Amino acid sequence: MSKADLVITGKAYVGGAVLRVAVAVEGEEIACVSSPASAPPAEEVVELDEGKLLLPGMVDMHVHMRDLELSYKEDWYTGTLSALAGGVTFVADMPNTRPATNSVRGLEVKLREASRKALVDYGIYAGLPSDLKELEALLSRGVLGLKLYPEDLGSPILERALELCAMEGVPVVVHPEDREIIEKRGRVPEAEIRALEKMILLASRTGAHLHFTHVSLRESVRRILEGKLSGLSLSMDATLHHMLLDEGVSRRLGPLAAVNPPLRSGDDRLAILSAASKCLLDAVASDHAPHTLEEKVAGAPGFPGLELALPLLLTLVEDGLLPLSSLELYSSRPAKILGLRKGSLAPRWDADLVVADLKREGVVSGSKMRSKAKFTPFEGFALRAVVERVYLRGSLAYDDGEVLLKPGSGRLVRGGRRNWTRD
Ligand code: DOR
Ligand code: ZN
Repeated sequence: MSKADLVITGKAYVGGAVLRVAVAVEGEEIACVSSPASAPPAEEVVELDEGKLLLPGMVDMHVHMRDLELSYKEDWYTGTLSALAGGVTFVADMPNTRPATNSVRGLEVKLREASRKALVDYGIYAGLPSDLKELEALLSRGVLGLKLYPEDLGSPILERALELCAMEGVPVVVHPEDREIIEKRGRVPEAEIRALEKMILLASRTGAHLHFTHVSLRESVRRILEGKLSGLSLSMDATLHHMLLDEGVSRRLGPLAAVNPPLRSGDDRLAILSAASKCLLDAVASDHAPHTLEEKVAGAPGFPGLELALPLLLTLVEDGLLPLSSLELYSSRPAKILGLRKGSLAPRWDADLVVADLKREGVVSGSKMRSKAKFTPFEGFALRAVVERVYLRGSLAYDDGEVLLKPGSGRLVRGGRRNWTRD
């Protein structure tokens, strides 16, 4: 047996269970997962003590890294540092940047910043251009997929854009809220339902894979499940904030808790948590959306979430509110939707590894976060797990608060059919 570069032994989440295993790493990939007794010899052996749990690096399919003209809110360094601190080794970046990523030029300037600064791997979504040719060009450059905002749902090229994505085998990520309803009545639940209805119809007409992001209503989950049962290629994610916070928090925190879609009723929140616990969701995402405090006070929607999502999920697991398998919603499941060889402790997959300490407790504190945005609606929440160490493709990237990789170590992962059908 050849000598591995690294073997980590200890308790790990593998194939749906926590087992005592050895994970062997060769180069940037996991070489094998075996019992500790049959682990290959290695240059370096790390033995985890009790209370530590080895997990795959998390995959966040909805983040806003900002940068460029919005670098005062966040940039690729601080955003991916926040990811590392949260045990996230892949981020999928949204196109509502300045400049927007709805042109090849917009993509190129973004990639230049990302390649210089990123600490974790990343992919980029395209925004909807006004011209289909530009979307073709973006897809040929390996964007992960297309992201649609409420204002895109009335675009004259929408249907053809979906057909193109279906042909290219990339997902279309939809922010489901209907713009007309928003304009007339605000961000009411009906806006989400109307947008879902419209887009599910388009899924059936075009064959595109539609991924509904940050679903926030019991009825949304039901409609999407119904669509799946009828044979459509649909998936959905929800955020930790829609799982744990409701409109009561909005009333207490005012604009600090503003987010789109808004925090909903207690019943909807419980429905989202329950859908996660039954793995009826396909993914969990942070929707990491940093703003300055001044902007927040003035009503800007969204908040940072990258470094809290995994500790919050582990806390829910420890508290018995979610099964351990729900960790797959933030790792293997989004990886599969995006066609990545990430998010699982499996041979030939990227050696992105997280050591979580389940014996260390923490308290959420916005001022200690690595994001430029130093506030969170989860302020003061007790955490029952801490991310201790992170490996990115076999290299130790983060150790007890210390960053060990250089900016620019993160690598672009391209989307497209080759990835999409990889397993
Ligand atoms: O709360 C949100 N913030 N929802 C969005 O759709 C956009 C995001 C942002 O970019 O700040
Ligand atoms: Zn977002």
